[in-house]
Amino acid sequence: MQQKVLFVCLGNICRSPLARALFQKHLEDRNLTHRFSCDSAGTSGLHQGENADPRTLKNAAQNGLLFNHSARQFRVTDFEEFDHIVVMDESNEVNVLKLCRADHHAQKVSRMRNWDEENPGANVPDPWYGGEEGFEEVFRILERSTLALLKDLSKV
Ligand code: 4NP
Repeated sequence: MQQKVLFVCLGNICRSPLARALFQKHLEDRNLTHRFSCDSAGTSGLHQGENADPRTLKNAAQNGLLFNHSARQFRVTDFEEFDHIVVMDESNEVNVLKLCRADHHAQKVSRMRNWDEENPGANVPDPWYGGEEGFEEVFRILERSTLALLKDLSKV
């Protein structure tokens, strides 16, 4: 059976859509799409239905990654639907856990940078208010963290 991974941030237009697209690319590069599926969501519904932020899309394209997206809000049924719920930062974690009603659901929640050898457990910084370098930093963090996550889950 496929393992299902959900990436979560605040707006679902910068960090988690990029994490989802990078994880999907790692799956395709390694012929692992039959073993995993992935999606992303935001704890807020502020940008529901929007594509990813133009700055995220531009930076990803500069790094050779093209993707499309439609933002959606995290919902309580995601705890049932997904095997792994990977949040970008501490506030996303607090907000997700507020909606959680069962221990076995809470155990599905982890932080993206638990898999980052550089500064493990740290927040993936929110690039929303910053400049282009912030989007590049987020790309580098998510590129390596999503690959380390996949290696851990697939033991490849
Ligand atoms: P994200 O970034 O959580 O990585 O999608 C943000 C997007 C939008 C806002 C904040 C962060 N906002 O305040 O609208």
